[in-house]
Amino acid sequence: KRKIIIDTDPGQDDAVAILLALSSPEDVDVLGITAVAGNVPLSLTQKNARIICEAAGKSDTKVFAGCDRPMARDLVTAEYVHGKTGLDGPELWEPQMPLQDGHAVDFIIETLRTEPPGTVTLCPLGPLTNIATAFTRAPDIVERVQEIVLMGGAYFEVGNVTPSAEFNIYVDPQAADIVFKSGVPIVVMPLDVTHKVLVTKPRNDAFRAFDSKVGLFVAEMTDFFERFDREKYGSEGAPLHDPTVIAYLIKPELFSGRHVNVEIETESELTLGMTVADWWGVTKRAPNAMFMGDVDADGFFTLLTERLARL
Ligand code: BDR
Ligand code: CA
Repeated sequence: KRKIIIDTDPGQDDAVAILLALSSPEDVDVLGITAVAGNVPLSLTQKNARIICEAAGKSDTKVFAGCDRPMARDLVTAEYVHGKTGLDGPELWEPQMPLQDGHAVDFIIETLRTEPPGTVTLCPLGPLTNIATAFTRAPDIVERVQEIVLMGGAYFEVGNVTPSAEFNIYVDPQAADIVFKSGVPIVVMPLDVTHKVLVTKPRNDAFRAFDSKVGLFVAEMTDFFERFDREKYGSEGAPLHDPTVIAYLIKPELFSGRHVNVEIETESELTLGMTVADWWGVTKRAPNAMFMGDVDADGFFTLLTERLARL
């Protein structure tokens, strides 16, 4: 069983990832959830994180607010995908559970310093600002991280926010660069994987059929999220980007990829935030990440449906 910190910018797909983690106590122990600015500003992502915990009936989960802007650029948000609240779809409420005192970056640093080395996995589901800020401020924690399993980047699928970049990496390329150069073992779930896990109509119906608060919450979120992808890409369902990270921790055999070198473009205006993955091994650069390329989508949805039905 892994101890994890979920670093997130919810986001409907972030929400499903958090629900998957909170419904899987035999596989993951969620030490805390750290919110970051991304899909929507921090004031909303920290609030959304608490709404999601309450929806799961886990209001004892620790939620911290982190960085409200990228390290070196202005914040770019994605209301055009996720709606004004970031969680458009279901009817939302004012969360009752508290936001923890203290900054998310301090929580990440303190947790890594107190837990035994090599026992905490970081799960970034948004821009990498909180993680890179923690690594920069407390370089001693870097070697204590067990692994980073993140959603971000793309190879064959290239970009979703610019022709060459994926949203999470594009929003804070400087942070991504720090993380990919950190030396921590990294597993990457790029668009190449996440565009294969689509919430089709029958999969959405399966959530609705739980006849529970969470079932309806997830169905209404993925209904909303789907609209954007259907209209824009003609896709047959919402891509569940972020839940692939948690699914990997539970069932890594659902995924396959290559251990390759990945570098982040931080300068070029044209290709800012591109994840330059040496998929064909054409350089001598040392591999620094397990870059996933494929997923068993049916296996993924079987797992997700089984787990969410518990809540
Ligand atoms: C990523 O960007 C966000 O909009 C999603 O939550 C996901 O983390 C996909 O590019
Ligand atoms: Ca996200």
